Amino acid sequence: MNVDWVKKGNSYKVKLLALNAEKFKRDAITLMSSSQTKQDSWHYQWAHFEDDAPFLFFDWIWPRTLDDFRDRRVFDAGCGPGHHIRLVAPVASHVTGMDLNTNDIAANKLTAFQNVTILEGDIAHHQPQHPYDVVYCIGVIHHTDDPDLTFTNLKKMCHKGSLLIIWCYSQEGNQLMWRFIEPLRRTLLRAQQRRVVQVLAQLITLSLYPLVYTIYLMPFRWLPYYEYFQNFRRLGFRRNVLNVFDKLNAPQTQFISRSRVEKWFKPQEFEDFSITPYRGVSWRASGIVRHD
Ligand SMILES: C[S@@+](CC[C@H](N)C(=O)[O-])C[C@H]1O[C@@H](n2cnc3c(N)ncnc32)[C@H](O)[C@@H]1O
Repeated sequence: MNVDWVKKGNSYKVKLLALNAEKFKRDAITLMSSSQTKQDSWHYQWAHFEDDAPFLFFDWIWPRTLDDFRDRRVFDAGCGPGHHIRLVAPVASHVTGMDLNTNDIAANKLTAFQNVTILEGDIAHHQPQHPYDVVYCIGVIHHTDDPDLTFTNLKKMCHKGSLLIIWCYSQEGNQLMWRFIEPLRRTLLRAQQRRVVQVLAQLITLSLYPLVYTIYLMPFRWLPYYEYFQNFRRLGFRRNVLNVFDKLNAPQTQFISRSRVEKWFKPQEFEDFSITPYRGVSWRASGIVRHD
């Protein structure tokens, strides 16, 4: 409910604004059973940044395409501000997005879609009344308390024949991140104001440009993050800052090995599955669930 406080002399008058019924319905659907602690830093990130590069979503879900969402009931696990729901909702029959920290931002940004429901909750514990036809989880599982538990729960939200898609950071190719940057971040940046971290991300991004447009244009494929910086050249400055900020801002990150992803997508449990590296720093994996 919107309550507008209007100062009148020494007293305050409460003016109740007309309720937008649809928006209220979405905002009000709140699941209270979350066991992961809420993390304000995600709210800051998605209140200040926007992902304006839809090609990334299509790269991350490959070899699946938008057609795999057509006329299906879809779940976006850890939807952030709802970037990907914007792409999927026009073709899906219904999309449910869930986020532990940014559901209010997503709900406000997606009011134009009548077939979208936004929930607040922990994707490692959500138990829907009916399973979904497609569950996707982009850039989230490695930020949850227990990625194995989260994956098991995502699978539980599916029925036989559902499609499950994840994209996550890989341990392989990210040594620099998990050996050096992550420990530094935890020690030096966790308690810093997010505004300070944002300025730092802008400076780091700026300093990367000379490298990425000189040495990284040479055929030196052995350079760290060589493939990753191919994307850097496709993105604008603000989107590159978002990438750097995201790395410095995330409250917790586990880098996931290929063998761990293979344990998730066991052949006994999934058919037609695919696990491929993306830009040398992440895994994109998907499969069709074999059993209810
Ligand atoms: C890197 S952002 C990705 C957002 C979105 N999927 C995208 O790609 O634009 C990670 C998101 O996961 C959410 N998140 C982290 N752990 C979660 C959990 N256990 N349950 C639900 N959301 C979670 C955060 O609040 C944050 O919005």
